Amino acid sequence: MSDAPLAILAELTHRCPLRCPYCSNPTALAGAAEELDTATWARVFREAAELGCLQVHLSGGEPTARRDILDLVCHASEAGLYTNLITAGVLLDAAKLAALAAAGLDHVQLSVQDSEAGSADRIGGHAGGHARKLAVAPLVLAAGLPLTLNAVVHRQNLDRLPELIALALTLGAGRLEVAHVQYYGWALRNRDALLPTRAQLDAATATVAAARRGLKGRLVIDYVVPDYYAARPKACMGGWGRRFLAVSPAGRILPCHAAESLPGFDFPNVRETSLRDAWERSEAFGRFRGTGWMPAPCRGCDRAEIDWGGCRCQAFALTGDAGATEPTCALSPHHGLLALAVGDAAEAGEAFSYREPRRASTPNPPPQIPRRESGLAAASSRPTFQAHGPRE
Ligand code: SF4
Ligand code: FES
Repeated sequence: MSDAPLAILAELTHRCPLRCPYCSNPTALAGAAEELDTATWARVFREAAELGCLQVHLSGGEPTARRDILDLVCHASEAGLYTNLITAGVLLDAAKLAALAAAGLDHVQLSVQDSEAGSADRIGGHAGGHARKLAVAPLVLAAGLPLTLNAVVHRQNLDRLPELIALALTLGAGRLEVAHVQYYGWALRNRDALLPTRAQLDAATATVAAARRGLKGRLVIDYVVPDYYAARPKACMGGWGRRFLAVSPAGRILPCHAAESLPGFDFPNVRETSLRDAWERSEAFGRFRGTGWMPAPCRGCDRAEIDWGGCRCQAFALTGDAGATEPTCALSPHHGLLALAVGDAAEAGEAFSYREPRRASTPNPPPQIPRRESGLAAASSRPTFQAHGPRE
């Protein structure tokens, strides 16, 4: 029997006023007509609490694009869940925030694209967005809600990490998430324009270490070394089907929000299946749960129950096989792909590929084999996909 999940990610909508090039949502987004209605989400929240979840992350897309966001927060709170709103903030004002707090909202996680308005608005693809966020942050605090600032970092803003830390302090955030881009979903298309250099990463890591020492008691900084420079993978989602589940705007129940892009899965849907059935009995949740599915070198590795084999979505994104050893691991025969991707990025320009709203796109992105790999032996690029990626 599997343990209970601790948290549920409720992807209320894929609609969003921003167009961040590192969006980890699928390349093919769900339309408004496909979204779950209020009553179904209310049932999902009750089922999540009954299953053992302690908190719900209300996300998207932009969750406040839902007209029923107050009702949704109210239902989640009444179910007994700690409610965290993950928002770009540009649709919020003082009245909305006060109403959200009255509805039971517990916490706000506000994203920023950069410390400089011009760059931030270019990255987010939304003119005036940065100024709006700066205005909204004090309104969050005025509504009595704790504030986390979520800074998604990459090659084009990482050099301004000191300014981003200063911004978090200025805005009164209690916590700053310095989130390196995860290359799934739409973000994979922009990897060459986003991957930082080793020198940038080393400087950022030193900046975080110094800030943690100097700001102890004032600001908590979350920071994880990005996968492309790691020697061992992180325990993505705490392990497939172990601690976390997500529900997509159209109701699919997923072990992580990026899993929807993996081919060969029949993910259950809340319209037909309870969260408990999906969690405890579905093939999709069981496929990569535990360690029994692992190939060598994970099988028997002393880190197998620490990292749970890393990220299945990243294994697919890089190798085309969701069951492959995570290339982040130096023991993986595909580990060299990461250095090749970093090399490709070093020679690439800064232009982003933005989503064109409402235009159909490829449902499953092909694996991103580094360009220089394409002329090499096919053994290391088996074409036979995968995210807690940053989004708005
Ligand atoms: Fe983790 Fe597998 Fe690498 Fe061992 S071999 S560290 S279990 S990814
Ligand atoms: Fe899907 Fe890691 S397993 S994001």
